[in-house]
Amino acid sequence: MQYNDDIERVLIDKETILKRVKGLGAEITRTYEGKELLVVGVLKGGFIFMADLVREIRCKLQLDFISVSSYGNSTESSGIVRIIKDIETNIANKHVMLVEELIDTGLTLSHLKQLLYTRKPASIKICTMFDKPSRRKINLEVDFIGLEVPDYFIVGYGLDYSESYRNLPEVCVLKPEVYRKKCEQ
Ligand code: PRP
Repeated sequence: MQYNDDIERVLIDKETILKRVKGLGAEITRTYEGKELLVVGVLKGGFIFMADLVREIRCKLQLDFISVSSYGNSTESSGIVRIIKDIETNIANKHVMLVEELIDTGLTLSHLKQLLYTRKPASIKICTMFDKPSRRKINLEVDFIGLEVPDYFIVGYGLDYSESYRNLPEVCVLKPEVYRKKCEQ
């Protein structure tokens, strides 16, 4: 099947991911004990992580989703974020936690955080499953980090290449010829 042929190797297996998600859930539970939390998933990539994460958080919480698109080329964000689908919740005086699958340059989340602060929440924290600190272009405080990853072209567990591979249960390194082929078309 072409889908499997596109994968070079598994970088992070399913068990490692789920064990870390459990740990993050416990950290988040301790942080928000006695508070009400609004968990905001950043679509599309964050949806698989968010589904696993919220089931490990033992606090009263509500869910919402935001979908953003970054102006810029397809592989790197510019930091100017356009909201495609906004949250439906009024976040004034609420404790908000943004959930992402990956922070790379940090520009998307930095912009999104600034934008949501104008709506006067009680707090905003950021949780990402994967972090590529080597790629950071801006100083961004990330409150909960699942795993640091090297600067490989990775897919799976929500991460895509050209909208495919999000459904892989593990994080995999894509064969370079897959994205090179696309660039040459
Ligand atoms: C990815 C990821 C973050 C952003 C991180 O989204 O989900 O939103 O890039 O990059 P940054 O730290 O360099 O700003 P993408 O634009 O690929 O959209 P997707 O979630 O729909 O895959």
